[in-house]
Parts: sequence; structure tokens; C-alpha cells
Amino acid sequence: MLENFLTGLELDQQGALNLLNLARDLKAKPEKYSQVLAGKSVVTLFEKQSLRTRLSFDIGINRLGGHAVYLDQQNGAMGARESVKDFALNISTWADGIVARVNQHSTLTTLGEYSSVPVVNSLCDLYHPCQALADFLTLQEVHGDVSELKVAYLGEGNNVTHSLMLLAATLGTDFVAVTPKGSSPDSQILKKAEQIAAMNGASVMVSDRVEAAVGANVVYADTWVSMGDDTPLEQVKEKYMPYQLNQALLDQTGATTVLHCQPAHREFEITSEVMDGPASKIIQQAENRMHAQNALLVTLLNPNFVKEHL
Ligand code: CP
Ligand code: NVA
Repeated sequence: MLENFLTGLELDQQGALNLLNLARDLKAKPEKYSQVLAGKSVVTLFEKQSLRTRLSFDIGINRLGGHAVYLDQQNGAMGARESVKDFALNISTWADGIVARVNQHSTLTTLGEYSSVPVVNSLCDLYHPCQALADFLTLQEVHGDVSELKVAYLGEGNNVTHSLMLLAATLGTDFVAVTPKGSSPDSQILKKAEQIAAMNGASVMVSDRVEAAVGANVVYADTWVSMGDDTPLEQVKEKYMPYQLNQALLDQTGATTVLHCQPAHREFEITSEVMDGPASKIIQQAENRMHAQNALLVTLLNPNFVKEHL
């Protein structure tokens, strides 16, 4: 049984496929799920900024008949006024679940350790597993069987890269991270992804050469500078510009689908021409955050409903 969702590695291939099936059902038949979290409250904690995550969880929980309580940093940083352990112990006396966007992954592991209710990672320094679920839900909608695909991520190796790579490996999708030297994905996470991919007949590669993305069905970008890093984008422009998603890159790779987790920096990691063009599924991808996360919340908070109705 799924207890927490901290790295995404909690789901094996069948678990991930089941969750994506549930997300598709939830999206197609919302009325069936309108009371599935009735009487349940979920606390959403944010140490960092958000548009999509905050709203898709809040509105999503509401659509399932539940109640979302938003907690930002108005009380100061987590762990400052009281320990993260005490946050977890207190919140779990009232709430039925905790969704947390944190600076350090260790905050999530502490929340998970001391909370008696499920904890969901809604982004940390190392992972963004809810994003990856929405990404693969979108790829299923566009392409069907994702195990037939090759996905190329271009730009900085970061939290989004890690989660995309791990879920690709889990689902048997070929994956390449095309990142400049010094910006590769974390080596331990890469190793883990390689092991999982090998079990599922898929490949994981890292390269600093854009040519490695040739033949990809899907190209994916994220910001070149993540939250918490104050480096101005202009300062890294020269380093990352060869990895920009633009029309020339689509022509070179042959990719027919473009994804970006957003927020996007137009004319930096992606051109407006591509972001607004026919290959872009970026807004569908953002919408799918809610459906994928709702599937996750139903699985965590009302597993009996899933057993009885699917
Ligand atoms: N993609 C994503 O997580 O967006 P937000 O930072 O706006 O939540
Ligand atoms: N890598 C980005 C993702 C934002 C959704 C960040 O961490 O800021």
C-alpha cells in the first residue's frame, strides 16, 4: 500500500500504470470522484513560490469533496519557530494528508518519519515527482504507449530532470538528459534510474551534445535557474543557449511533442514560436497536474475506493 510519495520511487511500473489509469478515469468522469475525499483535510505547505502546484492541489482537492488548507511562510521558515518533527506531529492530529514543497529533501523525510498521515512531495531540491506523473499522463494522451517513446530533456540537470528520468525508467521509456558540462543530473539518482531502466528494457543516457536528442519523440525543457538560486538568467544564457527548445532543434531532432513544466522563460529555454506552436502540449501538461495529483491523493487517502471502483 502506498503510504508516502516522497521521491516517486514508491511506485513500481504496475503501480505507476495503475495511478495513470486512475488519473485518466478521474479526468474523464469527475462526477464519480466528487465525494471521494469528503470529510478529509489536506494541508499544503510551501517553502517556495508556486502557481500551478498550489492551485492544482487546492482546486483538485476541492473537486474530490475534500478541504485544502494552505500554509505558507507567514510563520517564518519551517523548522525555525518549531521543529519539522513538531510540525508533522501537530499537523497529523488534524489533517488527513500533507503536501509539502520544501527547500531540502531532508525536510520531507522528517515530515514522513513523524507524520501519521501520508506526505506528498510537491517539489524539493532533488525531485518533483508530481510533475513527472503529469508529464507521463500527457504523453500517454498524446502518444499512447509510452514505452515506445524516446524523451529528451535539455538544459540544467535538476529536480525536474531527476523525476522525469526516474519515471521514464520505471515506465520503460528511453530517456536522454542533454545538459552542459557541470550541469549533469545527480550521479546517484542517475545510477538508480539506470538500474530501473535496465529492468524495464529502457535506456537512460546523459550527454552534453544536442545530437544525442536526435530521434527523440519528445523534447522537454525547464528553467535554466531553479528557485533558490539567485543567478540572473542573463548570466547563464551563453552556457545554455545551445540547448534552447526552438524550431531548429525540433527540425534537427524530429521531435513532435514539446513539454515544459513551467514557469517558462520565453526566449531563454524555449522560444515563443515553439511554446505556442503545434507541437507544444505544455498547457495540457499543466492541466494534467491536477488529474495526476488527484489520482495520487485518492490512492493515498481512500485506497478502498480505488479497490472497489476500478
Ligand atoms: N511546474 C510547477 O511546479 O509550477 P509551480 O512552481 O508554479 O507550482
Ligand atoms: N526546476 C524548477 C522547477 C519549477 C517547477 C525549480 O526548482 O525552480
